[in-house]
Amino acid sequence: MKDFWQSQIELAECFSEGDIRTKIIVPLLHYLGYKPENWRQEYNTDKGLLDFVIGQTQDNQFQPFFLLEVKSPKSTLALYAHQMEYWLKQPNLKKARYGVLTNGSELIIYEYSLDGHLHKIADFANLRNLDNIGLLLDKKLFVAEESQNCGKVISIYNNKGGVGKTTLSINMAAALQEYGYKVLIIDLDAQANSTLGLGIYPPNTQDRNIISLFTEKHQQPIEKLIWKNANGNNIDLIPSNINLYSALSEFSKSENSRREHLLKERIQSLKQENYDFIFIDTPPSMDITFELAITAGDYLLVPSDLKPFSIYGLSHLLQGTKNRIQILGVVGNNVDLAVNVSKPLAQIRNEYKLNIFEQIIHNRNCVAQCTGQGITIFQMEKQKKGNASSVAAGEFRVLARQLLSSIEGKNYIAQAPTLEYLMA
Ligand SMILES: Nc1ncnc2c1ncn2[C@@H]1O[C@H](COP(=O)(O)OP(=O)(O)OP(=O)(O)O)[C@@H](O)[C@H]1O
Ligand SMILES: [Mg+2]
Repeated sequence: MKDFWQSQIELAECFSEGDIRTKIIVPLLHYLGYKPENWRQEYNTDKGLLDFVIGQTQDNQFQPFFLLEVKSPKSTLALYAHQMEYWLKQPNLKKARYGVLTNGSELIIYEYSLDGHLHKIADFANLRNLDNIGLLLDKKLFVAEESQNCGKVISIYNNKGGVGKTTLSINMAAALQEYGYKVLIIDLDAQANSTLGLGIYPPNTQDRNIISLFTEKHQQPIEKLIWKNANGNNIDLIPSNINLYSALSEFSKSENSRREHLLKERIQSLKQENYDFIFIDTPPSMDITFELAITAGDYLLVPSDLKPFSIYGLSHLLQGTKNRIQILGVVGNNVDLAVNVSKPLAQIRNEYKLNIFEQIIHNRNCVAQCTGQGITIFQMEKQKKGNASSVAAGEFRVLARQLLSSIEGKNYIAQAPTLEYLMA
């Protein structure tokens, strides 16, 4: 086959993109072991046609591994990097992380990495270099492993009020949903802001809410409490309402010595629901809700407005957690674009030894408006194209990628080895 390829590439005279597609790319895909059902040619996205999308069908859905765009012979490929980045950012191309550009002689492979940036990982000046291309585009490297557990549980907490716990819970869940993950939000706050923020009027939740977990009278299996696709955006929710105050006050007096493990144990039984991520939105208090959330969580995410009082409050948070949960980091939120945050960021890193996410979510009216309207920033972006909501949605998308990369990404997205590794 290799010899066939060598002669193919030597004989293939390409005068146009069409020539390259039929004389080079289709044989190349065959050579790499892909079958015709593994690729779509002229793939129709709502933003236009892509030359090739290579992937496989899972659960009746075509899941792309990588995208391939053909440019005319002799064109300078690097000029099209921004176009590849544009494609890789399209929500409906979800899990595709690699983009290939070729002009029939040169071939460049880009990775849209988890930190939200496009990196060139290989540039082959000569398509005859087939072994190395094959290693990089081998489908085995792109298949994600199945997650075996109930999903990663991320508690969002800060003892300081109004710093964006709810805003972050909703929009991070929405960003991850957009990337193709199955997400659930558990509203563990009697203020029920994430319930409202997902468009559900809390009193209407009756017995189908988080309170049922803590009252003996109404105890129900946790999966019965889920509101599927709560706001028409494929985010599932276990809602809350004001009665959670009294229920938890009673619950915290109960004799049960393992009471703070209750939420964790119930979440374990959600395995068959196959969530990739479960977010717990918490109130700004260090009471039983805090204990429940840090016991149930695999990770803690700490939103902060990066102002002095918030930063001072981090010492209480660290005392309270006592290393009982892995803190993924602090997320700067509701930060004014004009504010220089280098000092607070340095303080968080150096004094509190906490990671801080590179992507900051800035203060924008649209972020506040959308939760008020019971929709996510992504739904607002769709309604009003090309304005501030797009920029805000973009910030949440990049933050979600940074979150993925800070969690051991292997379970979720296959990591392609680096070129250095393959060549070693
Ligand atoms: N990036 C942002 N831009 C503009 N407004 C924001 C932003 N983030 C949060 N807000 C607004 O700030 C207020 C507090 O945010 P949010 O309710 O998410 O905080 P919280 O930490 O959950 O509060 P609580 O401690 O009461 O639960 C809300 O009115 C929200 O809409
Ligand atoms: Mg809140």
